[in-house]
Amino acid sequence: MKQIFIVFIFLILGAGIAFALNASSQNALDKKEVRPMNNKVLVAYFSHSGNTKDIALEIQKQTGGDIFEIAPLKPYPRSYGEVVEVVRVEVANGATPKLKNNIDVSKYDVIFVGTPAWCNTIAPPVKTFLTTGTFKGKTIVPFISHGGGGGYDIAGDIKKAAAGSNVLKPLLVYYGGDYNTPKEIQNWLNRIVMPK
Ligand SMILES: Cc1cc2nc3c(=O)[nH]c(=O)nc-3n(C[C@H](O)[C@H](O)[C@H](O)COP(=O)(O)O)c2cc1C
Repeated sequence: MKQIFIVFIFLILGAGIAFALNASSQNALDKKEVRPMNNKVLVAYFSHSGNTKDIALEIQKQTGGDIFEIAPLKPYPRSYGEVVEVVRVEVANGATPKLKNNIDVSKYDVIFVGTPAWCNTIAPPVKTFLTTGTFKGKTIVPFISHGGGGGYDIAGDIKKAAAGSNVLKPLLVYYGGDYNTPKEIQNWLNRIVMPK
């Protein structure tokens, strides 16, 4: 009888500890989802037809960071055929078209950089943004909207343009994404090891 009583006490204690551990891991999860992170975050993006912009706005919502639209001084043609022609030439020449405005990135620790995949690489205005700013020691988190080609070596192209930066693995979104994109973004943000 005494042995049964002792086993019973251990079972109750075990259940109590398991409950407490579960509650603390839930707290940790909740805390993890409380944004902004400990870093000063900027979400900078270029978007021609709106897909990258939608992703940027969702990242900004979830991180609580500042947002900056990278906009070329001379807008690209709206027609697909025409814009492809212009961009093909720009990419072949390594062009860095002038921007409408710029932002001082020095006060940010983490900079999310969004671009559509354009002719297998970053959109030229994003190249301008990265080559004119000072990104040494900054963490860049790329997000890429593409039409089926995937991420190419866009993260590598970003690293080349933003000298001295630390570039994390990009989020790839096919076209504008779908109903699941906010959840996908949340999972991706939770997987990213952000520097403190
Ligand atoms: C000029 C141009 C070049 C493109 N090149 C590629 C490409 O190389 N690979 C690809 O998968 N999609 C390519 N696309 C498709 C875009 O990456 C895709 O539609 C993207 O979601 C557009 O983002 P946005 O709406 O933010 O501009 C290209 C689109 C344009 C307009």
